[in-house]
Amino acid sequence: MSDGPRICDYGDSTYRQDFWEGQGRGYEDAVERRVLASLLPRSGRRLLEIGAGFGRITGEYRMFRQVVLLDYSLEQLQYARGRYGDVGFLYVAADAYRMPFQSSAFDAATMIRVIHHFENVPAVLGQVRSVLADSGAFILEYANKRNLKAILRHIFGINHWNPFTLDPVEFVELNFNFHPEYIAKQVTDCGFVLRRSVPLSWLRLGLLKRTLPTALLALGDRALQRTGWTISPSIFLDLTLNNPGAAQFVDSDDPLDLLCCPVTGSSLSRSAEALVSQSGLRWAIRDGVFDFREPLA
Ligand SMILES: C[S@@+](CC[C@H](N)C(=O)[O-])C[C@H]1O[C@@H](n2cnc3c(N)ncnc32)[C@H](O)[C@@H]1O
Repeated sequence: MSDGPRICDYGDSTYRQDFWEGQGRGYEDAVERRVLASLLPRSGRRLLEIGAGFGRITGEYRMFRQVVLLDYSLEQLQYARGRYGDVGFLYVAADAYRMPFQSSAFDAATMIRVIHHFENVPAVLGQVRSVLADSGAFILEYANKRNLKAILRHIFGINHWNPFTLDPVEFVELNFNFHPEYIAKQVTDCGFVLRRSVPLSWLRLGLLKRTLPTALLALGDRALQRTGWTISPSIFLDLTLNNPGAAQFVDSDDPLDLLCCPVTGSSLSRSAEALVSQSGLRWAIRDGVFDFREPLA
């Protein structure tokens, strides 16, 4: 429908089975959860999980009264819905470049293992900014281009790209690694203030993961996180939005008060199994998932 940036469409991919379940990534999962838990506020009203996928880490957001899972893949969201149900959770299939939410609908947002699929980083950060209330929390994970392995590969002439240049590197179609200074500039330009940066997943090596227990690796990772050295493969940022001119936080749990038409920005009304914008665009509700990817014909 749009001529905008390309989208990495997971559709009905087997990401859960092929990447996580039984795939030897218990260590990565454990350290991400731990860092995420340490950065999340103690309580909150409504959190937006951008690129929630099948809900791998959604269980970490228990301190929020409502969690909205946004993903482009309807199938991933349907799986997540089967896991978490509808009480306290809302499922939205949409393009993060065109978020179907009212301004200031959230007091927190997260984006974990997702921004590496975005070729237009300022555009997606601008969307996060518009749906977050002033002083809202934003936890962003990104894949670090200037990681130790990439530096060594560069020194030995194995990589065809330079980990020290600021431009993002697209190593596989729609898979980008970012330089820490590039991300720092993008978030700052967008009005976010950096509170903390945590480099993690230092021990992502097959041999270590096969031979050492996950708990021991996680302990080692914690020690390395404390160095603050931004040469790990993954980095979490704890950001807060500085936007005093933002609209007032949407103080209602009714989906119709939170959602809006992603094309016109107008509010929506309900009609049978669809939501209708003021200009007549109709958006389906499929098995409890609000589907804003394409309007109904
Ligand atoms: C690597 S998965 C990460 C899922 C989850 N955050 C996790 O850590 O397990 C990336 C997710 O981003 C979603 N995604 C990619 N591009 C998107 C876009 N433009 N809008 C919404 N979701 C998108 C994909 O559908 C996929 O579920």
